[in-house]
Amino acid sequence: MATDETTSNKPQTVPESSISSVLSEKRKFPPPAEFAKNAHVASMADYERLYAEADADPDTYWGGLAEQFHWFKKWESVLEWNSPYAKWFQGGKTNICYNALDVHVNSWRKNKAAIIWEGEEGDQRVLTYGELHRQVCKFANVLKIAGIRPGDRVAIYMGMVPELIIAVLACARVGAVHNVIFAGFSAHAISERVNDSRAKMIICADGSRRRGSSINLKNIVDEAIVNTPSVRSVMVLKLTGDTVHMHDGMDHWWHDLMGLASDECDPVEVDSEHPLFVLYTSGSTGKPKGILHTTAGYMVHAASSFKYVFDIKDEDIYFCTADVGWITGHTYMAYGPLLNGATILMYEGAPNYPQWDRFWDIINRHKVTILYTAPTAIRAFIRAGNEWVTKHNLNSLRLLGSVGEPINPDVWMWYHKVVGQERCPIVDTWWQTETGGIMVSPLPGATPTKPGTATRPLPGIAVDVVHKDGTPCEANEGGYLVIKKPWPSMLRTIYGDNERYEKTYWSEFPGMYFTGDGARKDDDGYIWIMGRVDDVVNVSGHRLGTSEVESALVSYEAVAEAAVVSRPDEIKGNALVAFVTLKDEYVGDMKLREALRNHVAKEIGPIAKPDEIRWAKGLPKTRSGKIMRRLLRELATSNEIKGDVSTLEDFGVLENLRDSEED
Ligand code: WTA
Repeated sequence: MATDETTSNKPQTVPESSISSVLSEKRKFPPPAEFAKNAHVASMADYERLYAEADADPDTYWGGLAEQFHWFKKWESVLEWNSPYAKWFQGGKTNICYNALDVHVNSWRKNKAAIIWEGEEGDQRVLTYGELHRQVCKFANVLKIAGIRPGDRVAIYMGMVPELIIAVLACARVGAVHNVIFAGFSAHAISERVNDSRAKMIICADGSRRRGSSINLKNIVDEAIVNTPSVRSVMVLKLTGDTVHMHDGMDHWWHDLMGLASDECDPVEVDSEHPLFVLYTSGSTGKPKGILHTTAGYMVHAASSFKYVFDIKDEDIYFCTADVGWITGHTYMAYGPLLNGATILMYEGAPNYPQWDRFWDIINRHKVTILYTAPTAIRAFIRAGNEWVTKHNLNSLRLLGSVGEPINPDVWMWYHKVVGQERCPIVDTWWQTETGGIMVSPLPGATPTKPGTATRPLPGIAVDVVHKDGTPCEANEGGYLVIKKPWPSMLRTIYGDNERYEKTYWSEFPGMYFTGDGARKDDDGYIWIMGRVDDVVNVSGHRLGTSEVESALVSYEAVAEAAVVSRPDEIKGNALVAFVTLKDEYVGDMKLREALRNHVAKEIGPIAKPDEIRWAKGLPKTRSGKIMRRLLRELATSNEIKGDVSTLEDFGVLENLRDSEED
C-alpha cells in the first residue's frame, strides 16, 4: 500500500499546469495503489524498515540475500574489509552461470522463455531456459577445447544477438573473465582493451546489422589483432554473411566448433572472489579504466537489485534497451534478469529503424511489461513527436525505468504521460560501471517519486552528500556524492592498476568511495544528481550544476536538447555557454535566444542565464549516448578541439557546432 495520503498517481502538492520551475520541483507521485498491492516492497514503511535493518547489521542483510543462491560450498564470512579492498563471501564456492541457468532448468522454468530476440529486419528467435542452457554448455566446451582456463581473459566483440549473452555466460561457466567491447568501437579501442587485459581469445561476429546495412566486425578485429600479441584464437559467428578472411590456425567458425561440442558441461566451482569480468570505462584522462568485478558479490547485488527495483514477476516481459557492451547491459540485460528467471526482450538494432516507432511497436507486439531505457533516447523520442508513440497500444506496460544521466523533470513528465499513460511508476536508477548495480532508485511499490530525482538509496547502500572536507552537507546544500560502506557488487580494483584505483576512488575523501558526481539531498533525503563534478561550475561565486541549467532550458517548449558548459570569464570566473537543439518546427533566432535567457532567469535565477547560446543541429555524444561536455567546453573556450575524440559517435556534429558561434 502507498503510505502517502493520496493514493492517486497524480501530482500531490501543486496542480501540474502551474509547474515549470525545475529547481523547486514540487510534483510528487505516490506509487499507484494497484501497483503497490502486489509489489515485493509495498510501502515506504517497509522500505524504511529494510533500510534500517541493513544499516544496523549489513552482514545479516547481505548474508540473507546470499542464502538464496546455489553454493557448492557455503561462505565463511560475509565481508572482509581491508579498506579500500573488499572480499565478500570468502570461503564460498559458486558459479554465476549455474545460478542463472541450471537452477531454472531444474525447475518448472525449463521451458520458460529466457530471451525473446528481435532482429532489425523483424526476424525473431525465442530461447527457453532449457535451450539457452544447452547452447551455453556447448560453447563452454568450445572454450575449453580452445584452451581457455579459469582466470583467462576473453574479449567479446559482437552486436546485440543472443550469442553475445551465450558467450558471456559460457565464459562465466568455465571461470574465464569476459571483457565485452561495445561493437561500435574502433580497431584501436579493441587493441587497447585487449592488451590491457591480455586477452587470450576474441569472440566476434562476421558483422553487425545497423539501420539496414552491416558493419564488418571481423575486418575490424583483423586490424586490431595485428597489435595484440596475447590473442591466440578468434571465434567468428556467421550472422550477416559479410565477406571475411579466415586465417588458418587463428580463426575458427563458431558453427564448426559448436557442431562438434557436447551439450553437457559441468560449471567450474569458483571462489567467491574469482574475477568475473573486466569492463572498460572512460576516465577523466585518456586511458580507459578496466573495471574489475568478481563473482559472488556481484551476483548477489545484480539479482536482488533487479528483483526489487523492477519488481520482477514471472509473468513480466522485460525490455532493456541498453547494449551488452555497457554495464547496464551486463547487469540488467544479462545477469540480473537471468538470475531471477525472468523473460528478456532483446532487440538488435536502432530505435528509429525503420522509423521512430520501433520500440513502441515492439512493446505492443510482444506485450512488454517493463521498459528500461535512457534519457538520451527519451529526448530523441520527444523530438520525433508524440504520434509515433500514441499510435501504438502500450497498455501492457506497468513500469518504466531510466538510467545513465540525470533525467530532466520535463523529460520525466513526458515519459510519465505519453509512454506511461500516468499509470506506470518510473524508476530513475542512479549507479555506475564501478558500482556494478543500482545504488539509488525508487522501489516502485513503495517510494513516492519526484521528476528528476533517483530518490533514496537501496537497503544496504550508504550514500551521502558531503563537503570537500568530508563532513555531511545540510539538506539542499550541493556537495559530493560518496558511498560510505562497502557493498557486494563494488569494483574490486582497476584491472592491473591498484594505484589508480586507490587514487581515483578513495583518495578524495578518506574512508569513502567518491563517485565523481555532484549531488544534493532534499528535505525528504532524496538524492538529486547534479552531474559529474567537472560539470559543476562556479559563476560569480555561485556553484551551479550545469544539468540544472540544462533542465531549465529543456523545459522551454521549443527546446529538444541542451548541454551547458563553462568557459573562463575574467569577471564572473566562469561564463555559461549553452548548446541548444531545437524541436523541428522551431527556428533559432535572436528573439528565441533572448526568450531562452529570460526563461532560465525565471526558472533558476539571473545568475544561471547562459552568457552565450549556440544553436546546434546535434550534440556530440559518446556511443553510449552521453553528451561529451569536454568537447563542448573546448569549443566554447577556443572554438577548436584538441583532445581525444575517439569515443565520439558522429564526427559531423562537431563541424556543425564550430559554425554555430553566436552572431
Ligand atoms: C551518470 C551507467 C543521474 C552519473 C549505469 C554516473 C546518472 C555515471 C544516472 C555512470 C541517473 C547514471 N541520474 N546521473 N539515474 N545514472 N548517471 O558508468 O554521472 O556508464 O556517475 O554507468 O552516469 O555512468 P556509467
